Amino acid sequence: MTNRPSGDKSPSGSQRIPLIAGNWKMHKTNAEAVAFLEEFLPGAGGRPDVEVAICAPFTALRTVAERTAGGPVMAAAQNMHEASSGAFTGEVSAPMLVELGVEAVVLGHSERRELFGETDAALQRKVPAALAAGLVPILCVGETEEEREAGEMERKLRHQVQLDLAEVAAEDLPRVVVAYEPIWAIGTGNTATPDQAQEAIGFVRALLGDRSQEAAARTRVLYGGSVNPGNAEELLGQPDIDGALVGGASLDPGDFTEIVAAAPR
Ligand code: PGA
Repeated sequence: MTNRPSGDKSPSGSQRIPLIAGNWKMHKTNAEAVAFLEEFLPGAGGRPDVEVAICAPFTALRTVAERTAGGPVMAAAQNMHEASSGAFTGEVSAPMLVELGVEAVVLGHSERRELFGETDAALQRKVPAALAAGLVPILCVGETEEEREAGEMERKLRHQVQLDLAEVAAEDLPRVVVAYEPIWAIGTGNTATPDQAQEAIGFVRALLGDRSQEAAARTRVLYGGSVNPGNAEELLGQPDIDGALVGGASLDPGDFTEIVAAAPR
């Protein structure tokens, strides 16, 4: 057991614990992960009221899980297969992750959707499989620049949220984290304005409310896309934004520490 706060344990059901997740993508060898943790972990404890996840490559997950065990930081994977085992060359299952001490998994990142053919049909199976194994799924959704310009943002978000969460019972939705990541803001330095992020995340919350009001009140929805130490505080200060999924700026322990520290108190 860890002493970390959990997003769905609030007695009132309305208080959502901020979650700051660093998505390393295909960066950092195991040795580089060790070096990061040695610098990051001592300071990361400065905000026991914030949940922190490090989404590391598979090869560094054992290291991250072992070094964060019992503390406020959790190890997270960046993908998994929905089956627990089988003839799926190159894939990794939820029970394999859980055995290492991994506690969360990013699912449906736009890079996996665009570059590796991740489908909503697969996500519809992966999200419940992660929950069944005891992992926190961090489900990514978001529109392209063309979709936004064509006024299609809401249609795209509705499609992804409804399909990807279709097999999750309403009472289990608060165990899911949704990350709104506009594709045009990922890795571009072109972050959504706090108003744009709040508007889209408010819409995602309304979609959750179509399933259950309790889910809308308790499910954490993060913003991702060019979050950095300079813009984190304003983004995280928006009423519906419960944290951040941070790519590039999570690779530097100092920058990532500043982003964790920017979570509202
Ligand atoms: P970025 O990536 O912070 O580098 O834009 C975010 C993400 O892809 O999760």
